[in-house]
Amino acid sequence: MEVNGEIYRVAGPVVTVIGIKPRMYDVVKVGHEGLMGEVIRIKGEQATVQVYEDTSGLKPGEPVMNTGLPLSVELGPGLLESIYDGIQRPLPVLQEKMGNFIQRGVTANGLDRERVWEFKPTASKGNEVKGGSILGLVQETKNIEHKIMVPPAISGTIKEIKAGSFKVDETICVLTDGTEISMMQKWPVRGPRPVAKKLMPTKPLITGQRILDGMFPIAKGGTAAIPGPFGSGKTVTQQQLAKWSDTDIVVYIGCGERGNEMADVLNEFPELEDPKTGRPLMERTVLIANTSNMPVAAREASVYTGITIAEYYRDMGYDVSLMADSSSRWAEAMREISSRLEEMPGEEGYPAYLSARLSEFYERAGAVNSLAGLDGSITVIGAVSPPGGDFSEPVTQNTLRIVKVFWALDAKLSQRRHFPSINWLTSYSLYTEGLADWYSENVGADWTQLRDDAMDLLQQESELQEIVQLVGSDALPEDQQLTLEVARMVREYFLQQNAFHPVDTYCPFDKQYKLLKSITRYGEMATAALEAGAPMNKIITIKAKDELAKIKYEEDFDAALDAVMKKMDEEFAQIGGN
Ligand SMILES: Nc1ncnc2c1ncn2[C@@H]1O[C@H](COP(=O)(O)OP(=O)(O)OP(=O)(O)O)[C@@H](O)[C@H]1O
Ligand SMILES: [Mg+2]
Repeated sequence: MEVNGEIYRVAGPVVTVIGIKPRMYDVVKVGHEGLMGEVIRIKGEQATVQVYEDTSGLKPGEPVMNTGLPLSVELGPGLLESIYDGIQRPLPVLQEKMGNFIQRGVTANGLDRERVWEFKPTASKGNEVKGGSILGLVQETKNIEHKIMVPPAISGTIKEIKAGSFKVDETICVLTDGTEISMMQKWPVRGPRPVAKKLMPTKPLITGQRILDGMFPIAKGGTAAIPGPFGSGKTVTQQQLAKWSDTDIVVYIGCGERGNEMADVLNEFPELEDPKTGRPLMERTVLIANTSNMPVAAREASVYTGITIAEYYRDMGYDVSLMADSSSRWAEAMREISSRLEEMPGEEGYPAYLSARLSEFYERAGAVNSLAGLDGSITVIGAVSPPGGDFSEPVTQNTLRIVKVFWALDAKLSQRRHFPSINWLTSYSLYTEGLADWYSENVGADWTQLRDDAMDLLQQESELQEIVQLVGSDALPEDQQLTLEVARMVREYFLQQNAFHPVDTYCPFDKQYKLLKSITRYGEMATAALEAGAPMNKIITIKAKDELAKIKYEEDFDAALDAVMKKMDEEFAQIGGN
């Protein structure tokens, strides 16, 4: 249904239109160039449209056409390895069409219509199928098998199913009622895709980053926020997660960051290697890129485009991780559009629905049993860039109310070159307890105790430091000096991790466990030695302790650790007490 209307008024990215009789969230084509927009308010005869392209030069009276369809993404083989803008236009295709000139009204399909895929049916004639049922497989990239599913609203009996080479919009299956199914389906981005059941997240996302896995873990299907001031490590952390997390699929939304930073992502990502397969990381990644010079409304859309694509792979039974860098830029887009709509502003000019929008988004994360009966998950990790690093501002606060993990980046730590500069005193994870069983089965029965003791030590350190600042550490009793020393070891040997060191960039859980256990072991032996009357200066200057500092960089970690711990035993035996 296409009804033609016209532009009544233009205010930045927001255009008022008359005569189109739309429904909320219909996609419309605005002006002579047919700029894509979406209806976001209807008031009597007037519809307000947010436009995804630059609106300068648009004039009242120009034509508007209603497509009658909601903003949707195309889902099917070919999503992986793609780099899209906020409304799923492939950037390489746009570049080809536009050359070096920014043009408007350029359309480009999310999925390539010419590319041919080999479809292998797994369902057969006569099978009853319903929304989510798997019809067959396509090898999308070397290591990812794409499951072709019946679109959510369709069900029936298979009359015919074909094997062979097809384009995404060709029919591969026909139901007895005549319904034709292709490898591509569309989904309106603003609503979640249906699942059979939401599940409790019970497995950790293994990231290989010690402070994340060890201290503030996130579950597969969980939500986390990384707020941090300028230059504190948000992007490095997000990229480490994209690279190393044990998920099958990565959706990376570069949202409204400065143009040059986004250019880094666009240049760097395709170069990244998947450490598990040695293949390009892009083979299991979908990249969505919106720089700050792209229109704000497209930035708003990019978050929904990304999460919908994530849901589609989750429905196939995959574990998906989604990074949004930075969700603050999305919130700023909401603020700008809201102010153009002359809505009543809430805190710091953000719309009153900021918190509702954020929670709707994060709620689309989760561990699920899909319509196909497969277990999949979406883990969502949002970077937040509070102005001036002030965490009391509305976007950080509203995000913290929703997410279950808080990785607080701290400018003081990054200035001291303590990386990752995640503050161990203010960060938290609400998953630790729910994952306890997994740790005792898969890491070590004593892991939770080790972790709690280390956290406790760091807490004691921060309390003692207040005293140290007043009177100096020499004034402390020896056992407290020892507490400070072991806490320093936890910080420097365990928490600090260099993302750019070839070995240290990824730390398997087993190594994290052994490393923390060795630090704890030093603490125990040192306490015993102290109680037995060994001199403090000897306990502190044990050589094996300094060797423990460098052990994380060793290629052959286990052998090196054995040697160091043996030496530590010998040294303690010499100074007496053990
Ligand atoms: N884990 C790490 N290991 C080593 N260096 C790190 C690590 N994390 C951050 N850095 C250093 O800090 C710098 C800034 O990090 P990053 O670009 O991630 O900050 P940001 O918070 O995204 O900044 P912006 O606010 O500008 O987006 C990096 O270029 C790197 O030198
Ligand atoms: Mg950044």
